Amino acid sequence: MKEIIPDPPPIVRNDVAAIQALFQQNVIPSYGRFDLVMSHGSGSYIYDVAGKRFLDFGGGIAVCALGHAHPAITEALLEQSRRLVHISNYYYHEPQGRLAQALVALIGPGKCFFCNSGAEANEGLFKLARRFGHEEGRFEILTTFNSFHGRTLAGIAATGQEKIKMGFSPAVPGFRHVPYNDLDAMRAAISPATAAILVEGIQGEGGVTPATPEYLLGLRQLCNERRLLFLIDAVQDGHFRTGTFQSFQRILESPELANGSRAGFLPDGISMAKSLGGGFPIGAFWVRTSYCDLLSAGSHGATFGGSPLACAVALKVLDVIQREKLADNARRIGEFLRSGLQRLAQIYPDTIANVRGLGLMLGMQLSTSLQDLPGEMAKTQAARFAGLLHGAGLLSIPAGTHIVRFLPALNLSQSEASEGLQIIESVLATLS
Ligand SMILES: Cc1ncc(COP(=O)(O)O)c(C=O)c1O
Repeated sequence: MKEIIPDPPPIVRNDVAAIQALFQQNVIPSYGRFDLVMSHGSGSYIYDVAGKRFLDFGGGIAVCALGHAHPAITEALLEQSRRLVHISNYYYHEPQGRLAQALVALIGPGKCFFCNSGAEANEGLFKLARRFGHEEGRFEILTTFNSFHGRTLAGIAATGQEKIKMGFSPAVPGFRHVPYNDLDAMRAAISPATAAILVEGIQGEGGVTPATPEYLLGLRQLCNERRLLFLIDAVQDGHFRTGTFQSFQRILESPELANGSRAGFLPDGISMAKSLGGGFPIGAFWVRTSYCDLLSAGSHGATFGGSPLACAVALKVLDVIQREKLADNARRIGEFLRSGLQRLAQIYPDTIANVRGLGLMLGMQLSTSLQDLPGEMAKTQAARFAGLLHGAGLLSIPAGTHIVRFLPALNLSQSEASEGLQIIESVLATLS
């Protein structure tokens, strides 16, 4: 053994250059990382190894629902790990059963399957759609341009963005894309091979674009008429981020909708991940009662899926969200942030083209006529703007070429939201 295990590297505690060198030498360079080396976090703040404090409006890309180092998560991890971390899905255990029950209660009648990530949750929905259409030779899933459904081979085939697919052909067959929020295009794309339609309630990676209520209701009706599964990818916009458990519930609150048109609205399948574990990896998909036994014993599985540890943490995240009324907080602080950003868009119209999103899933679109921002020219304007925000002490997530996303913890306070707005304003002021 001695010969094949190299000596451990020297301790590089807090040495930025040495930590980055470890990555450059040993980590596959598939991410365009920012030049930041993080050390620890507390609530909505993260500290780098030099001790610089950042207000976290990125939330680990909509994952850290309770912020960083939340004591309830630490407690749940400790308590469950003293009992049982993992047992495989050959056996029953209480945390998985209770988590499934909680998700069903929040969505509607059906059943859940547990996995480890968003891409894997979507894979489960793809298999569900293929099983559903199998006997009639139907297998095709229609998705939308600008969508994002994960990095597996089927995930990139489902994703409606060429840059994600490049260099990985041949594509997994059975996916076609149509424009988002365009019901006629979806209707026209249905073929005899179509089995399902998959959309995000709010396109996240594509630039924070919410579905219209008419689109969601229209897709539901279309799927009923043509006997298709209506699937929603709620990996990013779900878990109370918009102020309701699912973004479609928030979108369908629209007062303009005809009375009763939204009553009983449910898709046939929903994929979830990200905030579900508040930072501990867990994914899931829910399937409506009529189809929830299609994936019969032996047809699908995941070794780590729904482990006692992951489920105990996810149950605790749900418990804190409900006990501390964080859905209401996401709605209220989201509205505060949104109106603050809109005010900034009025003051700096040459820099901010528009602000969109719901609750604590907000996107600030930079003007396409904005001059080149300082930073690496190989990076998008959005990434360079995020870099400027880093310099001023705020973390955000770029999307597309021109959108800066804000996906903070659901327990963000109003004073933290104000601080974030001040930081954004300070950067905007230097650019005008
Ligand atoms: C809407 C959506 N679906 C799927 C995924 C993939 O999730 P994961 O990275 O956990 O596989 C993401 C990730 O950003 C996402 O935003």
